[in-house]
Amino acid sequence: MTQSATKDSSSRLQWYLDARFGMFIHWGAYTVAGAEASWPIMAPRLSEAMFDTPSLVTEKEYVKLPERFNPVNFNAEDWVRTAKEAGMKYIIITSKHHDGFCMFDAPGTSYKITNTPFKRDVCKELADACHKAGMRIGFYYSPPDMNHPGYRDTKKPSTKNWLGEPKRKEWAEYLDYMESHIRKLLTDYGDVSVIWFDGLCNHAKYDTKRFHDLIHELSPGTLINDRLGDDYDFVTPEQFIPKNGTPAKTNLPPSSDGIDSEKFFRAVITMFKIPLIRGWIRNQMHKYAEGTLELTQVLQEAYPSPDRFQPWETCMTIGSTWAYNPNETNWKSSDNLIKNLSVISGHGGNYLLNVGPTDKGGFPVEVKERLESIGEWMNANHEAIYGTTYTPLCDLEWGTATRKDNMIYLHVHDWPVDGRLTISGFPGHVLNVSLLQGDSLTFNLSGDELDITVQNTAPDRVVTIIKVEINSDSTQLSHYSEKQLTGKSIRQYIKDNAVFSAMVNGVINGLLVLFTHLKPVRIPAIDASIDILITIGIITFLTSWLVIGGTRGDIKKGKIAVEDKTKENKKPLNSGLKALLIMLLSMIVFGGVLDALVLMILPDGFSNWGYIVFKTLYTAASGAIAVILAIKSVLRER
Ligand code: GLC
Repeated sequence: MTQSATKDSSSRLQWYLDARFGMFIHWGAYTVAGAEASWPIMAPRLSEAMFDTPSLVTEKEYVKLPERFNPVNFNAEDWVRTAKEAGMKYIIITSKHHDGFCMFDAPGTSYKITNTPFKRDVCKELADACHKAGMRIGFYYSPPDMNHPGYRDTKKPSTKNWLGEPKRKEWAEYLDYMESHIRKLLTDYGDVSVIWFDGLCNHAKYDTKRFHDLIHELSPGTLINDRLGDDYDFVTPEQFIPKNGTPAKTNLPPSSDGIDSEKFFRAVITMFKIPLIRGWIRNQMHKYAEGTLELTQVLQEAYPSPDRFQPWETCMTIGSTWAYNPNETNWKSSDNLIKNLSVISGHGGNYLLNVGPTDKGGFPVEVKERLESIGEWMNANHEAIYGTTYTPLCDLEWGTATRKDNMIYLHVHDWPVDGRLTISGFPGHVLNVSLLQGDSLTFNLSGDELDITVQNTAPDRVVTIIKVEINSDSTQLSHYSEKQLTGKSIRQYIKDNAVFSAMVNGVINGLLVLFTHLKPVRIPAIDASIDILITIGIITFLTSWLVIGGTRGDIKKGKIAVEDKTKENKKPLNSGLKALLIMLLSMIVFGGVLDALVLMILPDGFSNWGYIVFKTLYTAASGAIAVILAIKSVLRER
């Protein structure tokens, strides 16, 4: 990330960091069928598993839904009022989801809201209502687009090519089309606070820089999320809340970027066809909807310094789907949602709570009830949310804490039954403690342990806020935690790769030897010992050659918890040569020992089955040895 980009980012971000709470709106013609947004036509089976809804609609029917989309009850001012009363400070609406249907008067297409019986530009009306009410507006925009023939060959069903076909020459036209949309959204809709990209991984194919530059040029104040690649303003954990400390910057591309993640997606879809694996994937998908599956890696530190802090936002469904689901039964409770907002604030993040308006244009009653309850809590407690920052106390046993200047707000989720709240490691000298909604409380600070005496029942059933005024020169607040490295520990990295290599080499060689020695023959010791040497040679050479390259790459990508100290101008030893050395060493030491043992213990040689088992084992071991030596040799290069 360049210096200037970082600087601009922090001035752009101020309102956003203060805001803490926003409304996400997934709305489109799919509501006519009560279906999830886009997924039913891209990966119907996965969609069913992911959102627990049957894929109610075929692609043929789906693309025709706009003909029946007429949300006559839509009233942008009502929506904005509802969001405002819930305490939300910004709204992000789907201007175009993966299906390609545009909820604004988009150039270059007829697949848009202004072409439905409804005819009105929903994004425009919402933007106007927001501007009038002092609410910030942002647009979700999906680069994947099932409807555009430049994105994919639309003659095929989208289940075949939903990840896009960037190698076709039409791709360039698609990027131009995308540009015309971003230009329109940033020109005709007043002040746009956020462009919220979303995109099924491998964002580089959309030419990240082109779009980031375009947005900065047209609207320098507009924030960009992390789903179109590098140089983003904030990261977007989806459905889950990073809770082990506070998110810190990695200065690496977003973790879902790159070709690998696309392969992963394809693999999931393929594996979903296998019955046993399907059950497991379904399970993972439930965890996703519940918020316990961490889809993307978020680096967290106990208490990062402000320059290491990574602005972040959890986007989360209020039920289990993004779009309106008429059969929803998994609504999150209001208590839960309030606690989420509190926890997220304690870790310095924003909460983008998603609602799906109905096909008629209103919010479902369940949504309204929940937003009202959050609003009531916010009315009384917003002081502990807006404009606050994280503290070293973000992970308290009974709740969390936020801070504004010399005020620390304790968010008590689990009220103590014995009338005593204890905080060890309190980072400041305490002047005064009181309930946010009421009286002063007695406290005792001994060393850094703060004890507060409280009444026996919680003043607020959900989350009670206690306000602790600290001395403004409480220097402990600037004792930040150490910088952490991203990626797996060296031990884990070696272990994972060694196990993988042992399995691959053992299985492949085991099968080979099984097929060559199916008949019961004796294998003379001398033949076996020659075979052992040659096999170990081939395996260790090929494996270490691959692993040396892979490990060097993984260090650069931050996938191993070591600093990348590789000197640009100092070329490490050629990987082929290194692999050759590893091969020789393995052949002499490992092969030598095995050969000596075989010749001594089994002078009559092996039975076919004995050799099958033996070869499976030593080839697995050779694979593991090669990995260990290769990784260690790369780590020594730095
Ligand atoms: C997921 C879903 C997508 C939704 C997005 C919001 O990526 O696939 O449909 O719009 O989450 O974050």
